[in-house]
Amino acid sequence: MNTLSISSKLPQQKAIEYQARIGTGQLKQIPNLLKKLSPVSRYVIITDSTIKDIFGAQLVKELKKADIKADIITFPAGEKNKTEETHSKLTHKMLQKKCGRDTMIIALGGGVVGDTAGYVAATYMRGIPYVNIPTSFLAMVDSSIGGKVGVDTPYGKNLIGAFWHPEAVIIDIDCIKKLPQTQLVNGLMESIKIFLTYDKGMFEMVENNWKKVVKKDLGLLQKIIARSIELKIGVVTRDEHEANERMVVNWGHTIGHAIEHLSNFSFGHGYCVGYGILVESKIAELMGILSTEDFEKVCEAMNQFGITKKALKDILKKFSTQAIIKQTLIDKKARNGKVKYVLLEKIGSVKTTKGMFGHEVDKSTVAKALTYFTK
Ligand SMILES: NC(=O)c1ccc[n+]([C@@H]2O[C@H](COP(=O)([O-])OP(=O)(O)OC[C@H]3O[C@@H](n4cnc5c(N)ncnc54)[C@H](O)[C@@H]3O)[C@@H](O)[C@H]2O)c1
Ligand SMILES: [Zn+2]
Repeated sequence: MNTLSISSKLPQQKAIEYQARIGTGQLKQIPNLLKKLSPVSRYVIITDSTIKDIFGAQLVKELKKADIKADIITFPAGEKNKTEETHSKLTHKMLQKKCGRDTMIIALGGGVVGDTAGYVAATYMRGIPYVNIPTSFLAMVDSSIGGKVGVDTPYGKNLIGAFWHPEAVIIDIDCIKKLPQTQLVNGLMESIKIFLTYDKGMFEMVENNWKKVVKKDLGLLQKIIARSIELKIGVVTRDEHEANERMVVNWGHTIGHAIEHLSNFSFGHGYCVGYGILVESKIAELMGILSTEDFEKVCEAMNQFGITKKALKDILKKFSTQAIIKQTLIDKKARNGKVKYVLLEKIGSVKTTKGMFGHEVDKSTVAKALTYFTK
């Protein structure tokens, strides 16, 4: 028998540093910013059918003005298209265009585009650089940060993917002006999730200024984006590969993903996370970890944000408690057929046990929490 040691430094293991820029008029700055990144000989913009018309043409024009030639390839908008099939079609289009390893992908769109185009970048010729230009609020505050890319499967969400960081994240807050209000609220749920778990002050700021926030006060929204990103960068830096603390940014997602999947993506990802926040807060309250007073405060705030107990009841009525629990077991946090939950301890912090952020919860407690909302 021979035993030989191999040591390797895969690209994803090298120290990665990149910037997230947040401000107005950023789309116009893109040609200058691209020139400062790794030199490549061509660019491919990947976007969806909606964003192509809203910002795609404008971006191509800006690039052209700076003598930067970019191809644009698109796929139909919507979570239903965040699939292996789309990944494969986009890859084939790039191959047909004879894109080499000296190509940079520009992901322009919401979280669906960022996750899918980022995954194409991670796998194309074993990995090429990409830049993320998030246009939805959800993508600005959450999905563009942290390097998780991938696609959904018929078995569950985000089950195929990679860790692949962009060269830069460029956030033009003017894009929010074109965003439908429901999409803004959808994205705000990810900020609310991170504020509820890490920053009570910001949670209260959103609660107290909700009307201005949903009317798109860009100053307030920029503050929310910057703080959400800062908090997420902190988590991801401490635990990039979700061994422990990174689970916190998936708080609300165990139940949220189950609802999203079972309802066949009829509700936005953020809304599903909002409903997941209600149920997972109740789980913590039933376990005596979260006070009833704080649980009520969470419910009251969520009600103001449009995540009502009534709407959750209508959704939960369509599925059996067992079906929801079964779906949660396909969650990426599941180990040995058991799923670990992040538990809210009070507004602004989560429970840890001996430094661990994930906790086993009896199925009966999850069932009780779900039943509470169906009454
Ligand atoms: N990778 C991560 O860490 C991470 C984190 C959170 C969420 N996600 C993923 O993000 C996805 C959800 O992202 P999403 O909510 O942005 O969905 P989305 O990408 O489907 O965008 C929602 C809709 O808004 C449109 N849109 C986007 N920006 C717009 C704008 N400025 N003006 C008008 N319309 C605009 C899109 O075309 C789409 O039709 C889910 O797949 C979720 O799993 C990933
Ligand atoms: Zn999410």
